Amino acid sequence: MEVTIHPTVRDMAAAAAHRAAGELARCISENGRATFMAATGASQFAFLDALTHEGTVDWARTTMYHLDEYIGLAASHPASFRRYLKERLIDVVHPSTVHLIDGSALDPASECARLTRLVEQDGIDVAFVGIGENAHLGFNDPPADFESRAVFEVVELAHTCREQQVHEGWFETVDEVPRKAITITIPGILRSKCIICTVPEARKAVAVKHALTGPVTPTYPASALQNHPRTYVFLDADSASLLDKRLAHR
Ligand code: GLP
Repeated sequence: MEVTIHPTVRDMAAAAAHRAAGELARCISENGRATFMAATGASQFAFLDALTHEGTVDWARTTMYHLDEYIGLAASHPASFRRYLKERLIDVVHPSTVHLIDGSALDPASECARLTRLVEQDGIDVAFVGIGENAHLGFNDPPADFESRAVFEVVELAHTCREQQVHEGWFETVDEVPRKAITITIPGILRSKCIICTVPEARKAVAVKHALTGPVTPTYPASALQNHPRTYVFLDADSASLLDKRLAHR
C-alpha cells in the first residue's frame, strides 16, 4: 500500500485522478481497453471531478462497473448511485460500455449473478474506492465477510452506515435509507489489479487510522486493503490527522 497525504481535498483529488488516469491510459495502450469500477459517496466528489478533467484517457475504450447500489431505490432518487454516476461521470466522459447495478431488479440474487459473470469475464483493471465512517469498503459494513466466495452479494446495511447517509443529506431520516444493498464483496474488490482509494475529511480520521495502521480485521473492513499488492491511498490533512506521518511521504 502506498499512502500519500495532501494538504487539501483538491490536492488529494488531483493526485488520485492523475494516478487513476495514468493506470487507465496504460491499460488502454497495452491491451486496447481498460475496465474500471467506480465508487460513489462524498469521498469521490472531488476525485471524479478531477478525473473527468484529465485529458489522457480514451474513455471510448473503457468499460465501467460500480461498487454498490441500494436495493429498492429508484434510479431517479437523488441518493441513487446510478444517478450519482450518470451525472458525475457517465454523461461527462461517456465510457463505451457501462454495467450499472440494477437495485430495482425483482430478483437481487440474479442481479448479483449477472454482474458476477460479467466481472469474471472482463476482470477489473482499476477500482476506485472510498472508506466510510465505519471503515466500510463499498457497502461491506463491519463485521465484513473477508472469506466470501461471491463477487457481488446482497447485504444488510449497518445502522452507522445508514446514519452517515442521513448526515450527508442524501435522505431526511434513517428510516428512509434502504436496509439492503447489492455490493461487490471484499474479495471481489481485492481481485482488481490496481486500487485507488481516496478519503478526505476529518470525520474519516479514526476509520483511516484503523484501516491503514491496525490489524487486518473484519471490524474495520477497509483494513483488507493492506493485503492488496497495488493499492494507492490518497488522504487529505484532515483524514490523515491521526496517522503517524512517517507512514506516508509527501
Ligand atoms: C459509500 C458508497 C461507496 C463508497 C463508500 C465510502 O456508502 N456506497 O461506493 O466507496 O461507501 O463512501 P463515503 O465517501 O460516502 O463515505
